[in-house]
Amino acid sequence: MKISLKNNADIEKMRVAGGLAAEVLEMIVPYVVPGVSTGELDEICFNHIVNVQNAIPANVGYKGYEKTICSSVNQVICHGIPDKNKILKAGDILNIDVTVIKDGWHGDTSKMFLVGKCAPHNERLVKVTQECLYKGIEAVKPGAYLGDIGHAIQQHAEKNYYSVVEEYCGHGIGNVYHEEPQILHYGKKGQGIKIQEGMCFTIEPMINQGAKYCKTLKDGWTVETRDGRNSAQWEHTIAVQKNGAEILTRRKEEI
Ligand code: MF3
Ligand code: CO
Ligand code: CO
Repeated sequence: MKISLKNNADIEKMRVAGGLAAEVLEMIVPYVVPGVSTGELDEICFNHIVNVQNAIPANVGYKGYEKTICSSVNQVICHGIPDKNKILKAGDILNIDVTVIKDGWHGDTSKMFLVGKCAPHNERLVKVTQECLYKGIEAVKPGAYLGDIGHAIQQHAEKNYYSVVEEYCGHGIGNVYHEEPQILHYGKKGQGIKIQEGMCFTIEPMINQGAKYCKTLKDGWTVETRDGRNSAQWEHTIAVQKNGAEILTRRKEEI
């Protein structure tokens, strides 16, 4: 399959879907407090997408997944399944990852939440991982290479003594949830395919405090660090424009 290039009309629809996905992450902020369950957070997001946004939660039914969000706490790298019995406590770090479909187009984004007061080492992991995402985004421009994105992310992670998860990557996105190309979060400058105007893809680095290795739990979804140390992730959907990346899932809190 070839990489699909989006025209201005397509990107306008991606902007709408991306805006809705971003808005879910803004809406949920006041609910992320010690004592809430990830299952309750999922239900709130589902109801907001379906009843307020009149949109579709893309994860529901995706490869048999049943929930609206992925909720990944502490040592969970990604694809944590929301659960009414999983109660958040002060000091937890949480990733909420959500994808909204509007008018057939997808917006995919995630952010980290600090639950109550968190340890400085966790705050630092969350902050550096967000910097990794932004450095990846800054590497995007027509004529640059996909490897430039991975290189920028890996450099910043390793400079901070963290490691980059290699098993999961960003992806092309549009009227299909996951399409070509794969966006690796590690690599070398100049490697891989050339970035072109009209490409739309996600960048979603998963950064570990310890070693890069992961394992999938028996539920078939939850991915954890092998060494049990914490992991963080941030994700945006971007469109490649003449001057660089346009962030389609930008939240108001971002500069
Ligand atoms: N949103 C995830 C991504 O960034 C994919 C989640 S698939 C699910 O690509 F089924 F686990 F929800
Ligand atoms: Co994604
Ligand atoms: Co996602």
